[in-house]
Amino acid sequence: KKSAGILAMDIYFPSTCVQQEELEVYYGVSRGKYTIGLGQDCMAFCTELEDVVSMSLTVVKSLLEKYQIDPRQIGRLEVGTETIIDKSKSIKTWLMQIFEEYGNSDIEGVDSTNACYGGTAALFNCVNWVESNSWDGRYGLVVCTDSAVYAEGPARPTGGAAAIAMLIGPNAPISFESKFRGTHMSHAYDFYKPNLASEYPVVDGKLSQICYLMALDSCYKHFCNKNENFEGKQFSIFDADYFVFHSPYNKLVQKSFARLYFNDFLRNSSCIEEAAREKLEPFLNLSGDESYQSRELEKASQQVAKHLYDAKVQPSTLIPKQVGNMYTASLYASFASLLHNKHSTLGGQRVVMFSYGSGLSSTMFSFKIQDGQHPFSLSNIVNVMNISQKLELRHVFPTEKFAETMKLMERRYGAKDFVTSKDTSLLYPGTFYLTQVDSLYRRYYAKK
Ligand code: ACO
Repeated sequence: KKSAGILAMDIYFPSTCVQQEELEVYYGVSRGKYTIGLGQDCMAFCTELEDVVSMSLTVVKSLLEKYQIDPRQIGRLEVGTETIIDKSKSIKTWLMQIFEEYGNSDIEGVDSTNACYGGTAALFNCVNWVESNSWDGRYGLVVCTDSAVYAEGPARPTGGAAAIAMLIGPNAPISFESKFRGTHMSHAYDFYKPNLASEYPVVDGKLSQICYLMALDSCYKHFCNKNENFEGKQFSIFDADYFVFHSPYNKLVQKSFARLYFNDFLRNSSCIEEAAREKLEPFLNLSGDESYQSRELEKASQQVAKHLYDAKVQPSTLIPKQVGNMYTASLYASFASLLHNKHSTLGGQRVVMFSYGSGLSSTMFSFKIQDGQHPFSLSNIVNVMNISQKLELRHVFPTEKFAETMKLMERRYGAKDFVTSKDTSLLYPGTFYLTQVDSLYRRYYAKK
């Protein structure tokens, strides 16, 4: 099929958030650690009224309505998530309520899970379906939904929450250059959720950063090799207009782009300027391991790549800095930020995407962008997502109230037999919310 890819998008994140600057004071860390050190401004979180099911109901309903898609026109629905509220029942099955109302139960697909990578797995499944003999001519729909919460401690400020929906079909304004995908999969205990009684992960923060950067190097190598095999010339960061990264926190994105620059230097790319070459020369003979540990290399490469980071990466960092890590939705929220900031000049450009999920799985792939035709045009996608307004209308919670909410959610995780406050005053109209979990753990939702 011609140009299979993303036709339309919508994003939802909770209207409740907390300022990183205030979290620094509340948790008694040095001023600037979360804002400058991690590069984060604000963090969204779910109150007792919201969870991954309600957020995905909200975003799917909104996408179908805003692009006027008949629910009978969806033939495949895939969900990526790592927020497990049931070990058997897919979030996809909850979403079927929207489609059954229109008599459509003929929809393939279930949930995909591996940390932050599940959304990418779901997206590939849907695009592959459209490109396959099983395709029945209808749309695919991909949903990434997660609530990222961490126990008190160094990882707590790297939470976040959001759901993203992406409509998949042929002749897309955002189409895959499928030949060039580079993947790296491996066994690691960097971040995992072995304690089924808790929503919080077990995380080795330092190891997770190194795993992320090693996966990035490996994917970039495969991605470059495939590009070179098919195009017959060396690939470098100058061959893409933008780089969009999975964003656990912004500082890691800064380090990642610098790492790609260093890779180009090591591969002896002719595009690295003389001055930068001199700055990086001292690190030429570091072993792989040493290069992940070297603070000097980190600093030098960030410095020489800074002007390119500002041009090629910074436009995709808006939502992740404002909302936090959204796990499976994080990469696609970064991409949504790029559309928001650059949609009028993206036509004809190439965007490289890097997806990482701990444990670990990762892929680098690229999009070719076109302006598209209404309703599937970049400008309409940006109007529908309405990101500036969604960010502005949020309610900033005092840190005490945020910490209280986290305590309540700890008690509610895996619990039964409770009703929520049903106080919807902070929710936008059209938002789904949890009303009750009954004695058989069945969850009930309503729409504001
Ligand atoms: N002002 C400015 N910068 C500061 C300050 C300050 N007052 N204090 C510290 N910093 C800097 C540090 O120098 C460091 O930056 P650098 O790496 O550029 O030197 C940064 O702030 C973070 O400080 P650390 O001491 O390294 O932070 P800590 O170890 O306490 O926690 C971590 C950070 C490991 C990321 C933690 O939040 C975590 O475990 N998060 C979850 C895991 C994660 O997100 N991993 C990423 C990949 S896996 C995934 O996607 C889930």
